[in-house]
Amino acid sequence: MGFLMKTIYNQVSDLISVGSSVIDVGCGKGKLLISLSPKIDYGLGIDISERKVKIANKKNNLKFKIEDSSKLNSSYSFDYITSIFSIHTMNYVNQMKTLNNFSEIATNKIIVDFVKSKSRLKQQLICFDEILAGHYSAYKTYIDEGMNSLIKKSKLNLIKEIEGKYDFYKIWICN
Ligand SMILES: C[S@@+](CC[C@H](N)C(=O)[O-])C[C@H]1O[C@@H](n2cnc3c(N)ncnc32)[C@H](O)[C@@H]1O
Repeated sequence: MGFLMKTIYNQVSDLISVGSSVIDVGCGKGKLLISLSPKIDYGLGIDISERKVKIANKKNNLKFKIEDSSKLNSSYSFDYITSIFSIHTMNYVNQMKTLNNFSEIATNKIIVDFVKSKSRLKQQLICFDEILAGHYSAYKTYIDEGMNSLIKKSKLNLIKEIEGKYDFYKIWICN
């Protein structure tokens, strides 16, 4: 796990109570849940990418499923929903559907995603990375709109914003 992501996962872990249940949306290869697994009771990771879900390691208290967050199963019930750098990869319609779905399935929502860095160089590196990852157009729409505006338009209530350890991301806590 890269040092940077480890720092972010630790910051998220500090916000999650011991013995809770967590659904991680856009879980990728499952690294957040794997790092949380010793402290939580149960974790479900969902991702639209079949390849990534297959790679996600299985631990006793974790499960990973292929699922589209814009069509999330509304019968889910978790203490926490986490979304780490997933919203910016979606088109606007799916961003709104996904955020609105969050309101149904967990009490506490923890969203981590990009904000514009003050450093032009960092901004350019992120843009370059997004081009390579194939979701630059979604990222551009997201960064121009901003997470605060998306949350305001959604059914979520913003409780708190937490500064990232680096200035290119933030954590939004909603209920
Ligand atoms: C930048 S990756 C972040 C992965 C992971 N959260 C992490 O911390 O490494 C974004 C993830 O969001 C997933 N994703 C994008 N759109 C999705 C959707 N509609 N439903 C579920 N997952 C989605 C992608 O497949 C990808 O794994």
